[in-house]
Amino acid sequence: MPEHMTAPGGDGFDQMARDAVYRAMFTRRDVRSHFLPDALDDEVLARLLLAAHHAPSVGFMQPWNFIVIRDAARRAEVRDLFLAAREQELPEIEEERRALYRKLKLEGICESALNICITCDRRRSQGSPLGRWHNPEMDLYSTVCAVQNFWLAARAEGVGVGWVSIIEPQALKSLLAIPEHVTPVAYLCVGRVSEFASKPDLETHGWGRRLPLPDLIMSETFCGQGEAPLKSTVARLNASDVAPATTCPADQFVAPAVPQREPPKEASALSFSSLNFDDASASLISQAGSGTWPAMVLK
Ligand SMILES: Cc1cc2nc3c(=O)[nH]c(=O)nc-3n(C[C@H](O)[C@H](O)[C@H](O)COP(=O)(O)O)c2cc1C
Repeated sequence: MPEHMTAPGGDGFDQMARDAVYRAMFTRRDVRSHFLPDALDDEVLARLLLAAHHAPSVGFMQPWNFIVIRDAARRAEVRDLFLAAREQELPEIEEERRALYRKLKLEGICESALNICITCDRRRSQGSPLGRWHNPEMDLYSTVCAVQNFWLAARAEGVGVGWVSIIEPQALKSLLAIPEHVTPVAYLCVGRVSEFASKPDLETHGWGRRLPLPDLIMSETFCGQGEAPLKSTVARLNASDVAPATTCPADQFVAPAVPQREPPKEASALSFSSLNFDDASASLISQAGSGTWPAMVLK
């Protein structure tokens, strides 16, 4: 890792480095198509895994493992799990959206260069539950931080990542020989891509849109009104935000796009969130006039 990337320091990054960080965030995509047949260099994959391994974790527990899956036959079996899970999920989707759901490309398991299953070993710090005594699920959240590091680093390397959560977790565990106390958090399709879409696929296909950020900001307490200057600053940066909410913003989003299912017995990030928070990324990007916003994000 280059020295300037790892040296600690109290200052913020210089403009170019800052732009690069925001660029990775605003142009990261969940990728299911456009995978190229090219192999993924181990040098690159190693950098992505290092980035993931430097994620924050509760009690510095580092509960993750990274199962690299290259074998085509095994991947075909995972894809079968996906197809079965998709059929199970389908009746839970609102009737009028089922045709669209069927058309969506929701995985790139076999087309990508390789797959990675990022797991959480829930026993790794047994005996020292720092930060997990009241909130045992913090180990899962830590693992999600590792996933996000991996995803952002991949974007910076021009590598596509697609998260597949439409898989029955017990079936996946048995296929990958994952022990009982280990939770599969993310199943990722990873590989070189011909392009990164400018906005989320689910937005392109009319499934969802990015929620207006000012409506999600609360002041002091849940649904607390206030923070008007902050909200207008956010709205200024994000040209697409429209009229402010008149009720508690959270109440606008109570009707999920996908009906709620019974929560799974075991917490698993492989269960697809029913709240439709996917959507248009780069409306922030449309603020090309804002002198303070990183120029390279504004494309
Ligand atoms: C926890 C999690 C699970 C997801 N599962 C799936 C999935 O099973 N299939 C899929 O196509 N996309 C999945 N996605 C990707 C989202 O649909 C995507 O992040 C969202 O539409 C926004 O698009 P973007 O990531 O390109 O910004 C998942 C994302 C997350 C964070």
